[in-house]
Amino acid sequence: MGKNTFYLTTPIYYVNDKPHIGHAYTTILGDVLSRCHRLLGEPTHFLTGTDEHGQKVEQAARRNGVSPQEHCDTYVKRFQELWERLGISNDDFIRTTEERHTKVVQKILQDLWDRKLIYQADYEGWYCVGCERYFTEKDLKDGHCPDCGRVVDKLVEKNYFFKMSQFQQALIDHINSHPRFLLPLNRRQETLGFLKQPLNDLCISRSKARLSWGIELPFDHDYVTYVWFDALVNYISAVGYLANDAEFQKWWPASYHLIGKDILTTHAVYWPTMLMAMEIPLPDTIFAHGWWLTPPPAGMVESAQATAEGVKMSKSLGNVVNPMDMADKYGVDALRYFLMAAMALGQDATFTEESFVTRFNADLANNLGNLLSRTTKMIEKNFAGKLPEATEPGEDERELVNSVKNAVAAMRNAILNMQLDRGIAEVMSAAGATNRYFDTMKPWVLAKEGNTAALGRVLRNTAEALRIIGGLLYPVMPVKMAELRRLLGVPEEQIAPMMDKLEHWNQLPDGATVGQLATPLFPRIDLPKQA
Ligand code: ME8
Ligand code: MG
Repeated sequence: MGKNTFYLTTPIYYVNDKPHIGHAYTTILGDVLSRCHRLLGEPTHFLTGTDEHGQKVEQAARRNGVSPQEHCDTYVKRFQELWERLGISNDDFIRTTEERHTKVVQKILQDLWDRKLIYQADYEGWYCVGCERYFTEKDLKDGHCPDCGRVVDKLVEKNYFFKMSQFQQALIDHINSHPRFLLPLNRRQETLGFLKQPLNDLCISRSKARLSWGIELPFDHDYVTYVWFDALVNYISAVGYLANDAEFQKWWPASYHLIGKDILTTHAVYWPTMLMAMEIPLPDTIFAHGWWLTPPPAGMVESAQATAEGVKMSKSLGNVVNPMDMADKYGVDALRYFLMAAMALGQDATFTEESFVTRFNADLANNLGNLLSRTTKMIEKNFAGKLPEATEPGEDERELVNSVKNAVAAMRNAILNMQLDRGIAEVMSAAGATNRYFDTMKPWVLAKEGNTAALGRVLRNTAEALRIIGGLLYPVMPVKMAELRRLLGVPEEQIAPMMDKLEHWNQLPDGATVGQLATPLFPRIDLPKQA
């Protein structure tokens, strides 16, 4: 409590295939939130990484004819290269095959075994290779995996179990007394619903006879650790748990675990009970966002992965959009903007290139980019590229200033309440108000009339509005908004804006050199013609 640091995590992604738009979404969201919190002046730690053990990875390696470690070493680069390309500002990247992680997992296992929170018993049940999860008979749906619908395998064997059931009531109590622990609220309800049934203990071992690619149990060399029991620990092993106490105290408990709704139970039930067993405080908030879908194909049958709105984008379904392609085609910042603006946080959204282009043209090319080039051009032409002097905003500026101030407040709330898309919408509406101001004041007429004072006032106020709008969108589009702010004469050391600077008007230096764009910041895109 009272911790003034901000620690945010993404899921660590499986390295069984290359990343798609869904992975890019969570990581960009994490990046934008981390950048926002840095701009609020909070010490921030942003962690992402890869989940490298388990059956999925072992099978992928076998398919590629290489060792699991070689497979991981190749595939991890695809994630790291993508994050680099997308401007992700993570402070750390954890791989679960690193010793700093495997050692901690083993120490935790040994401790729980010593304290009898892990015990040995016979396991009888059903196993889904795809989900790497065991199911009881009654969990199955028509004899198939309830999550992915695959065929499941019958199993009877000796295994090790974590006494998860022992923490059921404590978890329910925690959820009830911490309204921000599970967000959005429907995910909280879903978890409480799940916890109405008696919670089983969790099988945390895998026999090496079937799967050897994992962290060996310290108390039985014939077994490796269940991949989820290993993976979840990354959130603490990466910040020094059992290795660097000062570091751990600085960042833990995490402010946010960002996840997709597909991995809610592991995060909302397994992980908190594991932490309780370890006697570590629980994270502040687990936030589960929705899925990016692709449009439903004609004649599609509805299932867990497919509804009338669309089909979940996933590696196994093969309907993925490659974020590298989108970035190459439309630019990194445009991709970041679209993903953040077009998905209401917590809900599903459908990805189509057409909706991407439509929004790009409306918001970025027409609303924002066009105004920037009109403003800088007129300052060049009428004031020799020097920013006109500040004046007190008057009656004419009232709507403009209110709308921009409102956007600042909305963005601040959006960051704190995880409603980024709504914050962005308010910023866009401030850009709309700025366009209206510009068009109402008709600076081109003022120029023709030689009314330099009035012309200077309009251009200066437009520039101030654009400076603030660019600052608010900076976490979403760091490259393009830096360019925008630089053009308007923002001093180099203030290009990354501190949030409080954005609350004040007339912060640009009088007479600053205003740059000119060689090409538009966001050139209009023609919709690809349908074949
Ligand atoms: O589950 N829409 O890894 P994973 C939105 N290794 N987000 C999506 C998405 C979609 N269609 N598809 C994937 C794992 N994601 C485990 C996690 S954490 C300790 C271990 C995003 O590679 C979303 O964040 O299957 C989802 O939760 C995650 O990728 C799953 O990635
Ligand atoms: Mg998955």
